[in-house]
Amino acid sequence: MQSRYQEVYDRSLNDREGFWAEAAKAIDWSRPFDRVLDNSRPPFTRWFVGGEMNTCHNAIDRHVAAGRADQVALIYDSPVTGTIQRFTYRELQSRVARIAGMLTTLGVTKGDRVLIYMPMVPEAAMAMLACARIGAVHSVVFGGFAPKELSTRIDDAKPKVIMAASCGIEGARAIPYKPLLDQAIDMARSKPNACVVLQRPQAPAEMLAGRDHDWRALEAVAPEAGCVPVKATDPLYVLYTSGTTGIPKGVVRDNGGHAVALYWTMKNVYGVEPGEVFWAASDVGWVVGHSYIVYAPLLYGATGIMFEGKPVGTPDPGTYWRIIAEHKVAALFTAPTAFRAIKRDDPKGEFIRKYDLSKFRTLFLAGERADPDTIQWAEQMLRKPVLDHWWQTETGWPMAANCVGLGTLPVKYGSPTKPVPGYEIQVVDEHAKEVKRGETGAIVVKLPLPPGGFPTLWQNDEGFVKSYFEEFPGFYKTADAGYMDEDGYLYVMSRTDDIINVAGHRLSTGAMEEVLSSHPDVAECAVIGVADQLKGQVPLGLVVLKAGVNRPPGEISTECIGLVRERIGPVASFKTALVVPRLPKTRSGKTLRGTMRKIADGEAVTAPATIDDPAVLPEITEALKAAGYGEKGR
Ligand code: COA
Ligand code: AMP
Repeated sequence: MQSRYQEVYDRSLNDREGFWAEAAKAIDWSRPFDRVLDNSRPPFTRWFVGGEMNTCHNAIDRHVAAGRADQVALIYDSPVTGTIQRFTYRELQSRVARIAGMLTTLGVTKGDRVLIYMPMVPEAAMAMLACARIGAVHSVVFGGFAPKELSTRIDDAKPKVIMAASCGIEGARAIPYKPLLDQAIDMARSKPNACVVLQRPQAPAEMLAGRDHDWRALEAVAPEAGCVPVKATDPLYVLYTSGTTGIPKGVVRDNGGHAVALYWTMKNVYGVEPGEVFWAASDVGWVVGHSYIVYAPLLYGATGIMFEGKPVGTPDPGTYWRIIAEHKVAALFTAPTAFRAIKRDDPKGEFIRKYDLSKFRTLFLAGERADPDTIQWAEQMLRKPVLDHWWQTETGWPMAANCVGLGTLPVKYGSPTKPVPGYEIQVVDEHAKEVKRGETGAIVVKLPLPPGGFPTLWQNDEGFVKSYFEEFPGFYKTADAGYMDEDGYLYVMSRTDDIINVAGHRLSTGAMEEVLSSHPDVAECAVIGVADQLKGQVPLGLVVLKAGVNRPPGEISTECIGLVRERIGPVASFKTALVVPRLPKTRSGKTLRGTMRKIADGEAVTAPATIDDPAVLPEITEALKAAGYGEKGR
């Protein structure tokens, strides 16, 4: 089939309003919008101004009314508990309406925030949809974060109610969530009025009388709440993501633009049809989980999957294939790291051959750079298209992809292909001038961002402008660097800030440095992301001790590792802190993190002209070598 990509892409930029007005017809509006795009106050773009709708109505109720009541809407597949449950659209409607009623009973109304700290159970999706139903703003926090991170988010979002489960399950271990939540609330200045706790038999929680409520008991007696119309521009959720410091950024998503954009992507980017099964093997705590586990499949009338498990070890590297075969999955979306784990445990693809994958059409990868080896291995094993695509929490949907629904373009390994319709992507130099094709620069998106892009940061318009729009006026700064080739294919190579991607999870090395600096024996430190064969990148800490400290370095290093786990969480995968005599710096005192990363990854290094004392480099090289670093892909 001849690809329609170019024609659709051109129209999306030449007639933005016409393009998105047409896409908006797929959504039910309780009040039609007056204007498609209000770009009078950039970068505060507003889409579908004056329009009113309800995201939950569009994701559930209208499908029930239109004949999908008995179609499965959500499948819960949990190898760690041995459970498979299927919820039809009708069942989902009834559960979500009651959970919304439960929130209403607790005093939650339109605009109030509700924080959700839950593992991959169906109630997590229901809680999100219940908030959307009554116009409350949800903020989901990933379970792998520590109480300190959770408390920071509580203080920023100021939730009226917190919804949690008593535990998560990581492989064979139950991780009690409730004690983490209790600690976080103790630390937070802003206290919720109530907590609703879903008790799980693997680790039931102790309840605090007066504050904590048993989810099931409350849901059982709750009235069903209806869908409350909200403005297209009202917030649907706040999702915190790593910034360059320990303070996370509260990315806001609105209702109208989000629904329109996600619906559009299901057909055009992912090439699936309503009624088909779409599986995003991520976590509801990340943007992929918000967009493609919960909202997009449901808005589109497809079937989504909540998978509680890992690609390997739950129970074996055939889990993904079992799920695809058993639930007739048409498209899977996951991170390359998951495939590296499967490849490590099943290099010959023996588990793949045990299952009937005939209904499976396409594998999508995102979250980190997809290395060509992993893509090629997946292609050989699956004999299906394996398509990399690139996006961020801030955008909510892909910025560059090989749009299956528009006709797939030839794959170039290492590239997520071309800008998705709606995104005018450029690669620029420090003066915001476009660089030549093939040259590396900062990847930016010309304003306005399309519908679904973040309208601001939660109660932080100033931070929004400063972080994303000041450096390159007229553009959104993605903070990714890369290049575009002669054919317009984009290559996303690295971040320009101190964000690293660990197993597809976005983390800030700056935040880790803040934690290490708080250790009483640490004078200064640096955290760098080093290459890792499984997780893509892992953090490595280098610490310099205060003068006069003569405790064993091993002891201090263990304490540093413990501190990061305690303050940020196990998800940081912070396992190494090397004590070194000093750090390499420029004459102006800037730590040469990039140089250290190159040494750790075994890349060729020449001492920068600005280095203060070149003798530090051999010292660092020696220390890294002694710890087993210095080879690519350690
Ligand atoms: N709740 C509590 N703890 C969690 C958690 C959660 N939701 N998620 C992760 N953790 C913990 C893990 O138990 C582990 O703890 P440990 O140090 O005690 O072992 C730590 O955080 C790191 O977890 P993870 O990064 O998942 O590493 P892993 O070694 O357990 O598994 C992979 C490695 C590659 C299998 C796994 O990272 C994976 O499946 N990645 C795909 C991620 C993905 O889909 N990302 C979404 C982007 S689209
Ligand atoms: P997150 O906001 O957690 O989705 O992380 C976004 C970051 O992940 C991006 O800024 C990139 O650095 C990285 N990323 C996501 N997808 C890709 C991809 N396909 N290729 C390269 N990097 C990616």
